[in-house]
Amino acid sequence: MKEKTMEIKEQLVKDIETVNTPQDVVEIKAKYIGKTGLITGLMKNMKDYSPEERKEIGQIINAIKNEATEIIQTRENEINTRILNEKLEKESIDITLPATEIKAGAPNILEKVVEDFEEVFMSMGYDVYDGPELEEDRFNFELLNIPKGHPARDAQDTFYIKDDEYLLRSQTSPVQARVMLELGGNEPVRMICPGKTYRRDDDDATHSHQFTQIEGLLVDHDISLSDLKGTCDLIAKKLFGADTETRFKPSYYQFTEPSVELDISCFACKGKGCNICKNTGWITVAGAGMVHPNVLSMCGYDPKKWNGFAFGFGAERCAMLKYGINDLRTIYNTDLRETANFDRKERE
Ligand code: DAH
Repeated sequence: MKEKTMEIKEQLVKDIETVNTPQDVVEIKAKYIGKTGLITGLMKNMKDYSPEERKEIGQIINAIKNEATEIIQTRENEINTRILNEKLEKESIDITLPATEIKAGAPNILEKVVEDFEEVFMSMGYDVYDGPELEEDRFNFELLNIPKGHPARDAQDTFYIKDDEYLLRSQTSPVQARVMLELGGNEPVRMICPGKTYRRDDDDATHSHQFTQIEGLLVDHDISLSDLKGTCDLIAKKLFGADTETRFKPSYYQFTEPSVELDISCFACKGKGCNICKNTGWITVAGAGMVHPNVLSMCGYDPKKWNGFAFGFGAERCAMLKYGINDLRTIYNTDLRETANFDRKERE
């Protein structure tokens, strides 16, 4: 019996070398220690032996069974470990790979400029107003000191809708008149109004028949041009960076006296001169001035008691300058290949 078990062991040691897969393990278990396996088979003729011999043989068979089980178990463990390692290697996460870009929406840059204005002016106690885009001639011109037949109307190629009385507003300034009349002439005014405006322009890289202005009006007591300058300074720094400087150039508008144009120092060349500022070092971004006494009185404010300033910024112009865009039409474009890069172009 001893010899037989020795033979079986030798055979097993040889066989085990060829065991490489879980299926092989199942097979080798069946061959040696399964119900019909070689080792189990040794028990078959036990009844032919005496009780003492049976005891001895039983011990020998048990010993070889334990040994065989251990050998197979060791091999099985090796195989399982190998399979696990292979799996880990194959399925491991390569953290050096660049992440997939998540495409998310972003506010339109024109909207962002408008939001910047609203944030600055609301923090100073201004209210944000809306006004109608289909406007009456009275608000768009007459109450702003531009009577019917006045040549100043020619400067704004207006879309008239009906009988010279209704028009698409050519500026956001009519909202000044609306707010003053609404407040009734006895309380201070602090308002801005961002909104769409319309002119009969051919569309090109710098013109659009529809564009956006940001109107502002402050009416109170003892307001001076330097209050206007300080206010413009604040918004210019917010939009174009803390080192931005501002200057006023004399200008002319019917509804302000004196009238100015607001220039900001060129953020691209810091005033040295470049193609953005046409080598002047300065860029015009708004019209402004002290509210004309005629406008105040027509809108219910006594010019002997009240005065104030007003301004109108070109929102697209500010957005183009801030985000480095040369063609106005890009702003209205929804092509993500162009608009997705706006943020990166931001100049601060
Ligand atoms: N409405 C003017 C325009 O469209 C801009 C403007 C200039 C607005 C001076 C103002 C102002 O409020 O005071 O050209």
